[in-house]
Amino acid sequence: MKGDVPAIDVRDLTVYYGGRPAVEGVSFSLERGETLLLLGPNGAGKTTILRVIGGFHREYSGRVLVFGEPPLKAKSLTSYVPQSHSLNERVPLKAFEVVAMGAIYRKGLIHGRIPQTIAEKARSLLEFVGLGDVWRRSFRGLSGGQKQRVLIARALMSDPKLLLLDEPLSALDPSARAEVSAVLGKIKEEKGVTMVITTHDINPLVEIGDRVLLINRRAVAFGRPAEVLTDGVVKSVYGPLARAINVDGRLYCIIGDVHLERR
Ligand SMILES: Nc1ncnc2c1ncn2[C@@H]1O[C@H](COP(=O)(O)OP(=O)(O)OP(=O)(O)O)[C@@H](O)[C@H]1O
Ligand SMILES: [Mg+2]
Repeated sequence: MKGDVPAIDVRDLTVYYGGRPAVEGVSFSLERGETLLLLGPNGAGKTTILRVIGGFHREYSGRVLVFGEPPLKAKSLTSYVPQSHSLNERVPLKAFEVVAMGAIYRKGLIHGRIPQTIAEKARSLLEFVGLGDVWRRSFRGLSGGQKQRVLIARALMSDPKLLLLDEPLSALDPSARAEVSAVLGKIKEEKGVTMVITTHDINPLVEIGDRVLLINRRAVAFGRPAEVLTDGVVKSVYGPLARAINVDGRLYCIIGDVHLERR
């Protein structure tokens, strides 16, 4: 990892699928320890940008540096929590076993017993995300919010410097959203991990966001939340019914149904 470089430095990024551009001309940078909220309607390119930063998608032009390195070289510093998890829930894993997988996969130890040190670390990470009491419960029996916190704990097993989270709040009810958001705030405060979080609902996260990137195939706006989330900008992406409002100094976005017509 190089010294004084930003955590993420993206210049004029265009991402392609089979030669066709999906996202064009995006630039932004993020300092170490900062959290970026990546916001935009369905199909805007949020997952695409996250996958490029994570080193999973390499068909792009422009500059993408993660801690001063190309994404593939920085992969050992990065952890990715996908939009929908691909765990086979027919395999009855306990919560701490799912967390331990975050280290076991990297070491290639897919079969056999979980080493003691890894199991202990998995347990302590479950405590960190507020799930110390369910560590032996079956993963598939947990609530949606608990599952998401288990998957976040799993992503922390490798002590990442950069955590990429693709819609960690989707499909959760408001109280579970608040719980998961609180865990993300704790990761930022106590672990100092740099994070990129894609989301449709920015409201539970706006307080931990240092920067917001609003995209709709192109970068629409980038800056501090209060700069980006103005009524005019939000309406330009989400239509005339969307609103950004300030209530007692706290910012709220009402974007209603985000399934908009594609441009
Ligand atoms: N594997 C793929 N092959 C071809 N096109 C793709 C592929 N994945 C995404 N795209 C296209 O790239 C564009 C951006 O998709 P992406 O999944 O990044 O959007 P998103 O902002 O994450 O949307 P959502 O909010 O629905 O998750 C879309 O037009 C999509 O159809
Ligand atoms: Mg997506």
